[in-house]
Formats: sequence, structure tokens, C-alpha cells
Amino acid sequence: MTDSIQHNGEPRANALRARLSAISGLGQRTYTPTQIVVERAHGCTLWTVDGRELTDLTSGVLVANLGYNHAGFEQRYNAYCSGMPRTSYNMVTELEVQACERLVKSMRNARAEKVLWAASGSEGIQKAMWSAMHKHPERPILLATRYGFHGKKGLAGDVTGDTSPNPNVRFISFPMYEEKPKAFYEAELDALAKQYPDQIALLITEPYLGAKGSFHPPKWYHQLLQKWCNRHDIAFIFDEVQSCHGRTGNMYAFETYGVEPDLVVLGKGLASGEPAAAVVGRADLIDSLNYGEASDTFSGNPHACAAVCATFDVFEEEGIVEHCRKVAPLVREGLESLMDEFDFITAVRGEGLVFGVEMVDAEAANRCVLEAYLGEGGHGVHFLGPLAGKVLRVSPPLVITESEIEGAFSLLRQAWSRVSAIR
Ligand SMILES: Cc1ncc(COP(=O)(O)O)c(C=O)c1O
Repeated sequence: MTDSIQHNGEPRANALRARLSAISGLGQRTYTPTQIVVERAHGCTLWTVDGRELTDLTSGVLVANLGYNHAGFEQRYNAYCSGMPRTSYNMVTELEVQACERLVKSMRNARAEKVLWAASGSEGIQKAMWSAMHKHPERPILLATRYGFHGKKGLAGDVTGDTSPNPNVRFISFPMYEEKPKAFYEAELDALAKQYPDQIALLITEPYLGAKGSFHPPKWYHQLLQKWCNRHDIAFIFDEVQSCHGRTGNMYAFETYGVEPDLVVLGKGLASGEPAAAVVGRADLIDSLNYGEASDTFSGNPHACAAVCATFDVFEEEGIVEHCRKVAPLVREGLESLMDEFDFITAVRGEGLVFGVEMVDAEAANRCVLEAYLGEGGHGVHFLGPLAGKVLRVSPPLVITESEIEGAFSLLRQAWSRVSAIR
């Protein structure tokens, strides 16, 4: 049996963690020093089985953009689902038609013409890549920005990171710690075009490098990639699996960066927790896949489509994107003031309501996650385990209020003083 994470004063959570680790594979979870055991969740608050109350700064993993158990979402979702079959394989429902139409319309982008559903982000990435590859089967080369994360499965895994098991993948530079002049990135792309004339099917990138620790490029970077792709008739694929639905302060990050991708992949917040992902983009690319070539058991099922529609309803009625823009500066200021106070924080990077807080090392990062969880007087703050070893991601539900933000920062200030004292 694998030893499970245990915390003092948590009898119920400790017992559940031990039972789970005895029966469930370790690979199912990503590491976190806390392994919170949740009993209940509402808005931006999580309650543990031992009565701890935590402000959530994760949105799950950028999924619960509307917070947990949002009353308006739940009510609409249930109404859309009412009487529908759970599966609609080879059936048409009006709900699916509506979800597709709303998705395309929401993009306000001339290239957003058609939809392919998927059941997870990485499957969406795979379907977007298939679309581009089927359009030009004679072009074997696949370009991806280095250190991106597009998922672990299939082609998504092939274009993740900086090395690939797929011999046709080539990585290009993405501005990270060092931002090189435009000419550097242009020269790199031009060299590839010269080396592989008419052989490149696609270029896939993320708006910002999320999993690598929140690196947000200058706007000109994506504009340069798009222009180059257009010039060479290469499909420009924007992975918005985590940035979609308001996260960067616009409904979609392609608006934030001023580009019109040929294919956009959406996931996570698209359906507020119901497993759903989608590719939206140029009809000529999506139509290169024939009957059955992108079908599977669960994609686009009625419950997924209901969740997509209910999410749009709440975004429209409650001005979620506007709220995100309003509170985002408070989160930035809070993080920057923590950086001024604690010398173990070395950088704060981000936009909208997605930030990376880089710590001096992995030990400090893990300690910060743990101390935030332990908090004060039964109240704490919930983080995921550090990204890229030492970066804490701060991505609260977009509905977080000013007073919740103030409360979370006041707790963090107290909790992280203990980290300072240990170091
Ligand atoms: C940018 C990005 N692309 C793709 C994925 C993969 O999504 P999924 O885990 O749903 O397969 C993720 C997941 O974290 C992601 O952040």
C-alpha cells in the first residue's frame, strides 16, 4: 500500500485518504502536499470533511469559472437536461444544435464557422490536429511552441513540452524569461518554411504557457505567428482549453491577443465541470474529416451541451467577464504586495484571473501550499500543487468577490509568515 498524505487533527480526511490510496492508482492524481478532502462546495468556498473552510484559488483546475454549485447554472442545466437522454450517439437533438450555434456566435470571429465536440481537452486538441492533417495529408510536419502543455494523450502529448516521440514534430521558441526581438522568432519560422516547403500542416500554441508556470507573451508574438501561418497556408491552432470563457479578461484569449486562429480548442470552463471540449474553426478544415473520423462515445452528449448552454446563459446574464476585469487588479495588487513582503516569492506573472507566483524553490512552493491550507482558526486558502516545480497558480473562480479576495490575502499574509520564519 502507498503511504497517504496525513494531517494532524483531520481524523475523517486521514481515514479517507488512506482508504483511497489503498485502492486507487497514484497516477490518477497530481501531487499536492494538502490532498484536501472536500465534503461541500459553494461559490468560492470549499468545506472539508473535518470542518475546515477554504477559499478556492484554483477553480478546480480552471474549470469552475462560475464557482461551485452556482444556483443559476444548476437551475438552467437541470432545465436543459430535463427529459433528455444521457447519450445521443448518432442522434440529433435541438440542444446540440443550440450549443453549436451559441458557441460559434460567441466567438465573433469570421473563421469560427463549425464545431467538433470532444470529451476532454486533449481529445479536442487531437481533433483539431486531425482536421489540419486531413486537409493536407501530403504535409507531415507539425509545429508547436516549446514548453506548451496540450494534454497527455495521443497527438496532444506529442506536441507538449520540448521533445516529442513523434518524429514529425518541430518546436519553435516561445518568449519566457527572456523576450527576444521579433526578428529572432521570424527567422526561426522562415528557416522552417525553407527547410520544409509545403510540408507543414499546422502550428499549435497556447495563448500563454500555463502549466509551464504562467508565461504571457507580448501581443505581437501571436500576431506574428498568425501572419506567418496565413502566408504559408498553415493551420494556426490556438489551444484555449484553459484560457476560454473569461479567464484572461475577455471571453476568449484570442481577443486578448488580437488574433483570429483557424481552429480554437476549448475545454475546462466551457461546460463548468461537465466533461466537454470543442474545436471551433474554419469549415474547410473541419470538413476534411468524414463520417466517423472524429466521432466517439461521449462527445457532444446532451448533458455536455446543456452545460455549455447553461454556462453561456450565466455569462450573459451576470456579466461574468466584466466582473473578472473589475476584480483582476485586486488580485494582482495582492500578489505583488505579498512579493514585496516575502523574499521567497521571486516573480508574479499573469493576466485577467490567471497568475503564476514563482517561488525561490520547490520546497518553499510546497510549504506555501501547505501553510495556506492550514491557515488560521479553521480557515485557509486552497491551491493546487506547484506547477513546473515551484510556481503556484492563482486562478480563482471568476465570480470571486472583493471581500473574498481581501479575506484570502489576509489569510495568506499570516500563513506565509510561518514560511518566512522557517526559512
Ligand atoms: C492548455 C491546455 N491544453 C490542454 C489541456 C488538456 O486538457 P484535458 O486534461 O481535459 O485533456 C490542458 C489541461 O490542463 C491545458 O491546460
